[in-house]
Amino acid sequence: MQNRSIVQIIQEKVAQCLASEFNFTIEPNDVVVNETKKEFDGEYTVVIFPFVKALKMSPPQIGEKLAAALINGSDIFKNSNLVAGFLNLEMSDSAWQTELLRVSQDESFGVFPKNGKKIMIEFSSPNTNKPLHLGHVRNILLGVSSALIYEALGYEVIKTKIINDRGIAICKSMYAWEHYSNGETPESSGIKPDHFVGKYYVKFNEILNEEYSNWQKSDNANALIETKGAQAHREDFFKKYKNNYFNEYSQIGSATKQMLLDWEDNKEETIALWKKMNNWVYAGFDETYAKMGVNFDIIYYESETYKLGRKYVEEFVEKGLFYREEDGSIWIDLEDVNLDKKILLRSDGTSVYMTQDIGTAKQRYEDYGIDSMVYVVADEQNYHFKALFEILKRMGEPYSEALFHLSYGMVELPTGRMKSREGTIVDADDLIAEVISEAENSVKEKGGLEELTDDQKSNIYKQIGLGALKYHMIKVNPKKKMIFDPKESVDMQGQTAPYIQNAFVRFKSIERKLGELKTDIDYSAYTLHPLEKDLIQSISKYPEIVKEAGQQFDPSALANYSYNLAKQFHKFYQELRIITAESEEAKQFRIALGTEVAKVLEKAMGLLGIEMPERM
Ligand code: ARG
Repeated sequence: MQNRSIVQIIQEKVAQCLASEFNFTIEPNDVVVNETKKEFDGEYTVVIFPFVKALKMSPPQIGEKLAAALINGSDIFKNSNLVAGFLNLEMSDSAWQTELLRVSQDESFGVFPKNGKKIMIEFSSPNTNKPLHLGHVRNILLGVSSALIYEALGYEVIKTKIINDRGIAICKSMYAWEHYSNGETPESSGIKPDHFVGKYYVKFNEILNEEYSNWQKSDNANALIETKGAQAHREDFFKKYKNNYFNEYSQIGSATKQMLLDWEDNKEETIALWKKMNNWVYAGFDETYAKMGVNFDIIYYESETYKLGRKYVEEFVEKGLFYREEDGSIWIDLEDVNLDKKILLRSDGTSVYMTQDIGTAKQRYEDYGIDSMVYVVADEQNYHFKALFEILKRMGEPYSEALFHLSYGMVELPTGRMKSREGTIVDADDLIAEVISEAENSVKEKGGLEELTDDQKSNIYKQIGLGALKYHMIKVNPKKKMIFDPKESVDMQGQTAPYIQNAFVRFKSIERKLGELKTDIDYSAYTLHPLEKDLIQSISKYPEIVKEAGQQFDPSALANYSYNLAKQFHKFYQELRIITAESEEAKQFRIALGTEVAKVLEKAMGLLGIEMPERM
């Protein structure tokens, strides 16, 4: 049994004929073979143009001679037609049969051999002051699917996240809890622990707002307005002044900043409180990850890596790569690559976002000796990652040529950007619960799962609901900003996961009804219907789609592929009979074909982190 794909066979035959007819040598791989456009006859198209110059012949001259040589005595090609510089080829039934057989016998179809390379993929990377939201969901889905895709491509994949667990934000939640909770805990309140911490973050902001609006009536504030000459646009002025107020006047602002200093000083109670609250958050996050089916191989914490970053920054001042300003702060000048001067350490020695990323990157390489590193982070941080990669390059890090920022567009609501201040954050847990209950409603409405146990049913609701949500987000190219309409995310019609899952389920239900098949049926002489050829052509290209999705960091390629394959299958199912097929050959061939389609659908959706239900 040969294991070359139908496209590879075409490439080889073309290369052979070019050698025998034109005395022209070309690597089979370099022969461009596309799918034939719908308006022409044929299934595959050889592009002739690239040979014109070398052969000093016109496209029709080459095309005609090449076609004759390919078709003459061939059991692979049935027919051909030439359109300008394109040679369209119609494949023989036996070529399609062979291709289907090859796919069915390849146990690791679409799974590439191990290549010995290590890739680390960072995703999710939350801050610890509030729960995960819709933006994190997109991030997580991209991270998980990239990891699965790279695994299929033969890489050893290490899934990681950095938890930004220190800084002023978590101190705000800590402060509010310490002063306004009366000792309430997630257990005593029955609130999911990350939501509980988030509640105190919100509380902090409420108190701050109140304090601020009282202050705006004070003599201090009035004097300030006068010196700034802002009498005419008071409100506007105060809106923009909030940060300054927090830093210069606010009571709870200074108390919170003190907390941060105490934290940096390792003050026992502060550290204990910090640990308590962060642990609550982690417990809450873990529940959300579990619901989404996500796990990590290793977790890094900013509270550990920032120190490392500081050490390296100091080290590279000595080496002359970074410089110290008069006030003691440390910088790197990236102006020659059209980035700015970048601060790496503040004058008081405290570290910035970049500091920890330098430390984290170094640590990761030390831990795993990775060949490449991917950061899944929203495009609002494009600049940060450009600068980070440039800095690591100048530091001479061995992996610095293999850094990749999987930058994705922000998720917005039909009403605009999510804003916590306006309460328009779509919470990840709420969303997950909603899509699952929506799936339950729609399955119940349709009926048909009555004989299953409650566990089986609830598993199916999860597969459908989560599938719908995941697919809805992943089908959008990562580069594109997405407008997330919660209603559409639970839609079960159109280009959705349930539509694709339904193709799989249809075939599974046929399988259950089949009973014993006659075993001695030889369908190799069966004459294929065009819809059957379409399906074989589609499953045949699956490995290429996996490769493309990986190379482009674009799982939406697999999402679209799955949809098209499902659509073809639904059409095949509607137009051709399977169990009641016209002949035993047709029946068994269609079952063999359906089996492979179902397998490929399950694999492709599996790489997106989406499960297939057996029934729905
Ligand atoms: N926690 C950060 C945020 O929420 C994202 C961290 C991204 N990763 C990194 N290595 N900087 O904005």
